[in-house]
Amino acid sequence: ADDIVLKAKNGDVKFPHKAHQKVIPDCKKCHEKGPGKIEGFGKEMAHGKGCKGCHEEMKQGPTKCGECHKK
Ligand code: HEM
Ligand code: HEM
Ligand code: HEM
Repeated sequence: ADDIVLKAKNGDVKFPHKAHQKVIPDCKKCHEKGPGKIEGFGKEMAHGKGCKGCHEEMKQGPTKCGECHKK
């Protein structure tokens, strides 16, 4: 899958999926149950290990609200 847009009222979040597949070749890091929709993915997960938490841990990628949420 190419770029994915995750809808959010405070500004949709663009997710460069293909770029992530390159830097994180193990799909299971995000898709525990195989590729496709991620069960339970939402705000909580996005702000935790699903997006922001990983960026904090790896010291790469956006960690500020406005870097992800764009109106
Ligand atoms: C969802 C606020 C930082 C990624 C949301 C929602 C709110 C919010 C209110 C829910 C929107 C809705 O229900 O329509 C904030 C605030 C942030 C912040 C105040 C700063 C403290 C971030 C960062 C990222 C991010 C840094 C990316 C690394 C997302 C994503 C969703 C989301 C992907 C949508 C999840 C889904 O698919 O439902 N955020 N956010 N947010 N946020 Fe943030
Ligand atoms: C969505 C495959 C790696 C995060 C998807 C979709 C597929 C897929 C088929 C559904 C696309 C669509 O609905 O248009 C794969 C494969 C991977 C991989 C084969 C490994 C080569 C990753 C990685 C991450 C990730 C490493 C996290 C950094 C996501 C997210 C979605 C998604 C957040 C949207 C989930 C949702 O809407 O519930 N992926 N992916 N993927 N992928 Fe991946
Ligand atoms: C970079 C969004 C999940 C690791 C980025 C960038 C964005 C982004 C916008 C910047 C890309 C650029 O500069 O062109 C997101 C969103 C996520 C998510 C919205 C959740 C749906 C993750 C996860 C991990 C991760 C789960 C780790 C497992 C990284 C890394 C980079 C990055 C390592 C730097 C890649 C580079 O510079 O090429 N992310 N990300 N991200 N993200 Fe994420």
